[in-house]
Amino acid sequence: MLDLIIRGANLPDGRQGIDIGIQGSRIAAVEPALEASAAQEIDAKSRLVSPPFVDAHFHMDATLSLGLPRLNQSGTLLEGIALWGELKPLLTQEAIAERALAYCDWAIAKGLLAVRSHVDVCDPRLLAVDALLEVKKKVKPYLDLQIVAFPQDGVFRSPGAMELLKTALDRGVDVVGGIPHFERTMADGAAAVRALCELAAERGLLVDMHCDETDDPMSRHVETLACETQRLGLQGRVTGSHLTSMHSMDNCYVSKLIPLMAEARLNAIANPLINITIQGRHDTYPKRRGMTRVPELMAAGITVAFGHDCVMDPWYGMGSGDMLEVAHMGLHVAQMTGQDAMRACFAAVTENPARILGLEGYGIAPGKNADMVILQAADPVEAIRVRATRLAVLRRGKVVAETPAQTARLNLPGRPETVDFLRKRS
Ligand code: FE2
Repeated sequence: MLDLIIRGANLPDGRQGIDIGIQGSRIAAVEPALEASAAQEIDAKSRLVSPPFVDAHFHMDATLSLGLPRLNQSGTLLEGIALWGELKPLLTQEAIAERALAYCDWAIAKGLLAVRSHVDVCDPRLLAVDALLEVKKKVKPYLDLQIVAFPQDGVFRSPGAMELLKTALDRGVDVVGGIPHFERTMADGAAAVRALCELAAERGLLVDMHCDETDDPMSRHVETLACETQRLGLQGRVTGSHLTSMHSMDNCYVSKLIPLMAEARLNAIANPLINITIQGRHDTYPKRRGMTRVPELMAAGITVAFGHDCVMDPWYGMGSGDMLEVAHMGLHVAQMTGQDAMRACFAAVTENPARILGLEGYGIAPGKNADMVILQAADPVEAIRVRATRLAVLRRGKVVAETPAQTARLNLPGRPETVDFLRKRS
C-alpha cells in the first residue's frame, strides 16, 4: 500500500502513460500500469510530470525591492549597480528576509523548488548574509536554497571584501562567488579568479562567478577560470555565470576557449532575460543579443543552465519566478528552435541546474525525492510554449501548491465554449 500514485503521466524524456508510486517522501516506482493501491491517487490525464524547476542563478537579497529607494531610470546594469549601492545603507535584515520569503512563496507556487542565490558580501554589516541564512533555514522543508558569497563591488576593488567573503563562508554560505570583470584591471580580475578558486579548494567548496558580464570581447576571465579549475583539481565544481563577452569574441579564439572549458568540466549559466535587456547597450545597430554561446557550449558537452538572475529589483523590473518564462526567452535568444534544442531549453531549467547545484535525490525515478510538478501541457515543448500552469507542485510526497487549470470562456455562436491553448488531442 503506497501513500500516493500519480497515474497517466507523461515524462520529460518522452515516456507516456507512466504511473508514479510514492511512499513517504520518496518515489517508490515509475512504470506503466503500476499494480499497487494507494491512500490517494491523482490522475495526471497525460499531462507532463516533471521534476521541479531549478534556478541556478538568482539574487534573493535584492528581489522585490523594485522602486527602493528609486526606480532605475535608464534600465542599465551600471545604474542598477549604483542604485543597489544607494539602497544598501537603508536595508534591514528583517526587510530582506521578508522580501526573500515572499519570493519563495512565488517560487514554490511556480514549481521552482531549488534556487542558487548570490548574496552581496560587500557590506560590513553582512545583513543580507544573515537574512538569507535565516530564510534558507525557514524554507528548507519546501525549497533548497544554496547561497553564493558574492563580492558585488569586487573582492579586491572593495576594501575589506575578501575578509567579509570569508566571514560569510564561516557563517554557512555554501559557494564562493566573484566578479573579476568589475575589478580595476584585467590583471586584478585574473588575480581575483585565482585567489577565490584557491579559497574554494582550501575549503572544499563550489565556485560560481559572475564572469565577463560585458560586451567587451577582450574580457577573457573565463579562460583563467577554466585554467585555475584544472590547476586546483576543481573539475565539475566550478561555474561561470553570464559569460556574455563570449557572444562578442572572435570565433577563432572561441574555438580554443570552448574545448578548454570542456576539459575543465566548467559549468555555464546564461541569464536570457537579463542578458537580452542589459547587453548591447553601447551598440547602435546592429545590436548584439549578448547571451553566451549556449548551443555551442551544450554541443561541447558543457552543462548549461538558464537562470532568472533578477525579479523586480534595481536591475530588472519584470519577472515572477517562472522558469518557463526564462526557458522561453532562452530558446528565442539562442535561436534554439530545433526539436532537440527546445527540449534542451527545458533541461536548462530542470536537470542541468540540478546537476550544477549538486542536488541529491533529484529526478523522476525510484529512490529519488518525491518532488515534482504536474503541468498543464503534454510535453516540455508545449510547457515552454504556453508557460504551462503548474496544476500541482509536490515536495517530499505532499502537494504544497495548486493552481487551477487555465481555460478561457468563449461567447461565440457555433464555437466551443472553452479554449485552453493546448494542442488538439483526438
Ligand atoms: Fe547575477
